[in-house]
Amino acid sequence: MTNPTSNLLDKIRQQFDTSPYPRIPLDNSPKNDTNLLYIHNLITPYYLRNQGVINTKDKVILDAGCGTGYKSLVLAEANPGAKIVGIDISEESIKLARQRLEHHGFDNAEFHVLSIQELPKLNYQFDYINCDELLYLFSDLAAVLEVMKAVLKSDGIIRSNLHSSIQRFSYFRAQKVFTIMGLMDDNPEDLEMGIVVETMKALKDNVDLKAKTWNPGYEGEDGKERILMNYLFQGDKGYTISDMFSALRTADLDFISMVNWRQWDLMKLFKEPDNLPAFLGMSLPDISIEEQLQLFELIHPIHRLIDFWCGHPNQTQTFIPVSEWTDSDWRVTKVHLYPQLKTPDFREELIACITEIRPFTISKYLSPTEEFVSIDSSIALCLIPLLDQPQPMISLVERWKQVRPIDPITLKPTDEEQAFHTVKHLLLSLESLGYIMLEHQSQN
Ligand SMILES: C[S@@+](CC[C@H](N)C(=O)[O-])C[C@H]1O[C@@H](n2cnc3c(N)ncnc32)[C@H](O)[C@@H]1O
Repeated sequence: MTNPTSNLLDKIRQQFDTSPYPRIPLDNSPKNDTNLLYIHNLITPYYLRNQGVINTKDKVILDAGCGTGYKSLVLAEANPGAKIVGIDISEESIKLARQRLEHHGFDNAEFHVLSIQELPKLNYQFDYINCDELLYLFSDLAAVLEVMKAVLKSDGIIRSNLHSSIQRFSYFRAQKVFTIMGLMDDNPEDLEMGIVVETMKALKDNVDLKAKTWNPGYEGEDGKERILMNYLFQGDKGYTISDMFSALRTADLDFISMVNWRQWDLMKLFKEPDNLPAFLGMSLPDISIEEQLQLFELIHPIHRLIDFWCGHPNQTQTFIPVSEWTDSDWRVTKVHLYPQLKTPDFREELIACITEIRPFTISKYLSPTEEFVSIDSSIALCLIPLLDQPQPMISLVERWKQVRPIDPITLKPTDEEQAFHTVKHLLLSLESLGYIMLEHQSQN
């Protein structure tokens, strides 16, 4: 693999040896950052791809380009029982990553000073590879993806991401300005960072580059990391959705999904998705996922990262989408509460809401759709048995009948079919919002 050139690789290594990333204090724990844990949980992409639920125990997870190991810690917290292996070219970063995992009591973790190109030297096959904020430093994306693919188990999953050339356009302009000014010739340190701050502050506020990139958060000691990662990032490059798909094709990897896929929904950009102009109404439903994502990035380039999951080809287990299940499918379904919701706070508040008959704001605990979601306390009680273990769907229907033996309007006994459909409706909406997983027993 020829990229990045050894000169650039040295510059990148130097940058991260003098300023290991991220500068998150050792004590900080991601335990309560359920949204971060949600995307780092192997269960999330596995369920998306296979509509099945896996156990993370004994899975082997690689954090490629782990930096100071904050994401390695997130991976360890999100995947109980998994082994974490971190690699990075920066020795200083690796020291901090090792300390971080030890500090938080994870002894099933190991860290190596190693470049991603040297991965096969480790002699591991991984269930999951997290390659966060690194791939965009390369110009031959497929070559890096191929190295990761070579150490990925057949049913394993890779998560990686690229900087968006469209969303980040202004920062790439700024990087060019500072390259012309010579600030990127050597390793940018305090002097160069100071020159960036002075230059940006000296510009009039309505000057385009300043208006589009600058804010006071870049000033002072706390702003330094952001200055480096935005204005003076050695090797930073921008890509598009079509670059991502073409690299995946070259590396012979299957696209699984965007991470945060709910925020890439083209239909949500329209005022009335069910009432589109005739041409769009006829063509949009038939276009490929690649075209949908391309249109999204052109129409609404709000995402800094083109963040995706992929895996070996032909590994997706065929399944019937939940929305197409018949009642007999539902009768053989096991319901799992999302692991990130099984916290003491969640349990306490759920019980309090049911006891005090007030709505339960579930989005306070996990918010994959970034929407406010509140559940009526009477139906929220179906979640209680899920806190301890997964439940057959029909036992949740039984529970509903026990607590609602009488229809509150007609005062007649609750009808079996009515109870079944009430619970089904609740589960369908909770599944689409990412709070529960539905496992079809005959499919898995
Ligand atoms: C922006 S940081 C991301 C750190 C971490 N993944 C995160 O998201 O918090 C990029 C990291 O990749 C490392 N890196 C750069 N090129 C690399 C390579 N060829 N092989 C392994 N690590 C590399 C850098 O040393 C740095 O620690």
